[in-house]
Amino acid sequence: MPTSLVILAAGQGSRMNSERPKVLHKIADAPLLWHAMAAGQSIEPDHMVVVTGHGGAQVAASARTFDDSAICVEQTEQLGTGHAVDQARGALASFDGDVIVLYGDTPFISSETLLKMTRARAEGADLVILGFEAADAGRYGRLIEKDGQLERIVEAKDAGAAELAVTLCNSGVVCADRATLFDLVSNIGTDNAQGEYYLTDIVELARAAGRSAVVVRCDEAETLGINTRAELAAAEQQFQSTARNAALEAGVSLADPSTTVFGFDTVLGRDAVIGPHVVFGPGVTVESGAEVKAFSHLEGCHVAQDAVVGPFARLRPGAELAEGAKVGNFVEIKNAEIAEGAKVNHLSYVGDATVGRAANIGAGTITCNYDGVMKHRTEIGARSFIGSNTLLVAPVKVGEEAMTASGTVVTQDVPDGAMAIARAKQDNKAGFARRLMDILRAKKKQKGS
Ligand code: UD1
Ligand code: CA
Repeated sequence: MPTSLVILAAGQGSRMNSERPKVLHKIADAPLLWHAMAAGQSIEPDHMVVVTGHGGAQVAASARTFDDSAICVEQTEQLGTGHAVDQARGALASFDGDVIVLYGDTPFISSETLLKMTRARAEGADLVILGFEAADAGRYGRLIEKDGQLERIVEAKDAGAAELAVTLCNSGVVCADRATLFDLVSNIGTDNAQGEYYLTDIVELARAAGRSAVVVRCDEAETLGINTRAELAAAEQQFQSTARNAALEAGVSLADPSTTVFGFDTVLGRDAVIGPHVVFGPGVTVESGAEVKAFSHLEGCHVAQDAVVGPFARLRPGAELAEGAKVGNFVEIKNAEIAEGAKVNHLSYVGDATVGRAANIGAGTITCNYDGVMKHRTEIGARSFIGSNTLLVAPVKVGEEAMTASGTVVTQDVPDGAMAIARAKQDNKAGFARRLMDILRAKKKQKGS
């Protein structure tokens, strides 16, 4: 059955006490919204509709950054979850299939759970609601079942004592046929404690119309919604702990798992070795057998097999390390390819550059890529040797098997096999050092007396 998604992301999230829309707060360096979208994407939806409201333009921009085919619709007034879903009616008018409703502030729903819901639909349920046994049911909506059917959902604020005692709670995730869902939604009223259009009312409406409704259960950890900074911090911990366990399970060595910080989409190959205190931002792939040593920070980069990074290295977006490449301590690489077996071992900045196979970049080398307005490229040939403390003023090319003398400022291309020297000639003044020291010591003595 073709499926589309509606992700509710219009709420302000006032309990976050923030200028920033709630769904743009981050876990593992990615907005909550991206986590929800990624969860939804796993079932390959035909359409993904994001309902925006508070900070709408910002939220829509973020949604499109993650997936440029996302359809954003605005809910100008937040009149409740039912009203929010109604905003997607037009965008899905010609879609024939099932719709799953997700919340933008609920980042951990698994694809298995979503598949369970679509299966329950396929087995004939008109309405499928995702529920969970809550350790502390608190303000969650309560799922009231009877004879294997879901009868209705009661919001905590509208519930009586008997209903409040129910621990099976509403996650908010709903699956139904598109036409059925929007039919039911158009009949929701606001006669409740909060005067809102509750999406949850569709259950009672469906049952009254003789339709079936069932609950699919999942673990409470999956339905964790973020409402406060404390919950955001706890969710970060939960994400990291899950990611660490998954990496260990997948054959990755983590020297000190509790100090490895994962990005939301970090990919680590089997037998990759990760030292203590390594931080992965978004968009990192480290292949099999590569090693990332302690205290390195990586984002938007690719580290091929058997490459070695760090300790204390920084790989920024566009860093591409080929097999067996080495990037050592206090080295920063940005938007640069380091070819097979090339080495940048100490204290260097290599940006907007290509470094050829087996080239050796000496300590303290800097590619001067920025003129204050524009960025320029540096090309370093295969098997070349860049002397320590070379400045490469881009745009500039160093040929294959070329050399630069230590301390050289390279402003012109260096031909293949040539050596560039650009520094003042050395002049040794005989005896000068001793004479100078004598003068200085004598001066100090005079002052002291
Ligand atoms: C909702 C459910 C409750 C469930 C709980 C799970 C309803 C009426 N209640 O309650 O049964 O146990 O989630 O966390 O559905 N939103 C909009 N526009 C609106 C209102 C909300 O986009 O007008 C979005 C919010 O941004 C949020 C989601 O919908 O992502 C849920 O809204 P929220 O106000 O947090 O609902 P709860 O009161 O927590
Ligand atoms: Ca909530």
